[in-house]
Amino acid sequence: MNPTLRPRRLRQSAPMRRLVAETRIHPAQLVLPMFVAEGIDEPKPISSMPGQVQHTLDSAAREVERAIAAGVGGVMLFGVPEHKDAVGSGADAPDGILNRAAAFLAERFGDQTVVQTDLCLDEFTDHGHCGVLTAAGEVDNDLTLERYAAMAVAQAEAGSQLLGLSGMMDGQVAHVRAALDAAGHETTAILAYSAKYASALYGPFREAVDSSLTGDRKTYQQDPANRREGLREAILDLAEGADIVMVKPASLYLDVLADVAAVADVPVWAYQVSGEYAMVEAAAANGWIDRDRLIAESLTSIVRAGADAVLTYWAIEQAEWIGARA
Ligand code: PBG
Repeated sequence: MNPTLRPRRLRQSAPMRRLVAETRIHPAQLVLPMFVAEGIDEPKPISSMPGQVQHTLDSAAREVERAIAAGVGGVMLFGVPEHKDAVGSGADAPDGILNRAAAFLAERFGDQTVVQTDLCLDEFTDHGHCGVLTAAGEVDNDLTLERYAAMAVAQAEAGSQLLGLSGMMDGQVAHVRAALDAAGHETTAILAYSAKYASALYGPFREAVDSSLTGDRKTYQQDPANRREGLREAILDLAEGADIVMVKPASLYLDVLADVAAVADVPVWAYQVSGEYAMVEAAAANGWIDRDRLIAESLTSIVRAGADAVLTYWAIEQAEWIGARA
């Protein structure tokens, strides 16, 4: 009845807990994903993601200013084009919305933050898949690589500093790296969405980008059942030259994140996706959970599992909150 080993000693007060905390989050570890839409005059709310909007170029610039002021580490841009077609022509057109947004924001803010772009075709294709299709309607891996190469060069030329390869095509990192180098963009970095799972948690994002997908992405995104395969994907991307590897979604895949963090010799990131955001906001709106505590707890857990940085729609709010407590 008189234990000498008492772990509670280190939990007895807020200052003691703060002193022994193993995980801390710095605003620079947070990256804000942003949607920039073509053909809108003012920001358009995304109903499946309360608090998030499709931006105009001007509202995007104001948001990036806020992110910089809060100390957020970078912004990841997604384009929402007005017109889509079978090969996603808007993706590599220099005047396509994503490339225009990257140029506009990189020129203004490229010396203060890291302007990043999503490199995938799904926002630009009328069928909504992340690649081009064969006559039989299947996603053609190797033809898609050619599209990614063109997109990569266009994004680098626009001024994007870090390309987020989120399409899950085999060989995409090596192929894009070679295309960038051949075009003189050796300094443009690659963030590989290495272990990206076919997740129901992307649902709210599909509204955010006006996705036209019917069916699913299970022939290219990973099966949630597979842990070892996530590690394999990351190891392949490292061998292909990824500068950063990422696991996505975050909260339901912390085991995969920890596995990747244990072996990677580059930064390891995680993406707290639209569904992770929407579930918390919805439960909070109903008064069912403590929103602020849950957001902080979720980010802490993702970093504790091994993420060096996190893409999160709460990036600005969290950075401001951390700043206010520091
Ligand atoms: C693909 C892409 C998706 C997300 C990021 N990049 C959608 C998908 O794979 O279906 C989802 C992000 C989120 O849900 O927040 N371009």
